[in-house]
Amino acid sequence: MFKKIPWKKVLLGLLVVFVLIQFKSTDKTNPEVILENDFLEMADAPEGVVDLMHAVCYDCHSHSVRYPWYASIAPVSWWIKGHVDHGLAKANYADWNAYTKVEKDSILTGSSRFVGLKWMPIITYKINHSEARLSLEQREMLISFFDSEKAKLYE
Ligand code: HEC
Repeated sequence: MFKKIPWKKVLLGLLVVFVLIQFKSTDKTNPEVILENDFLEMADAPEGVVDLMHAVCYDCHSHSVRYPWYASIAPVSWWIKGHVDHGLAKANYADWNAYTKVEKDSILTGSSRFVGLKWMPIITYKINHSEARLSLEQREMLISFFDSEKAKLYE
């Protein structure tokens, strides 16, 4: 026959697991910012673009990631760190100098495309960052900037 589920024990067990996983810390240190290698610096981007990208892209694609308080609590911390690592691996605007022309082209093409499709900033980020829900004008500003930077690669 079915036994009654011992909820108290299950909850206690979950609590113990929750406490234990807090000991596995996530590395939230940012690599050093070297301005000469930064995309926006190198491009001498207009202030509007700089402010917007710092606010809504640089939390996952730069060396200036600002972690919210809940990024210290496992397992949310692992999940957020995963986004940052994954985002950085795909596009690192803080280390722009390290990319080849082909890589720059591909990232700029992706940037325009992903912003145009509203895939960037990622949807879960928008829940807690209302500034990341971009207006049409903001998206158009970013896209025309990415496109003009792409054209400059071939000048
Ligand atoms: C909360 C984290 C986060 C924010 C904020 C964010 N991204 Fe991303 N970005 C990611 C992740 C994660 C990926 C990898 C997605 C994948 O491959 O499925 C990614 C991928 C990309 C890529 C690579 C796309 C490709 O070609 O595969 C580009 C380009 C990009 N993001 C641009 C941007 C821009 C521009 C902004 C700001 C308008 C932005 N991202 C904001 C997390 C973020």
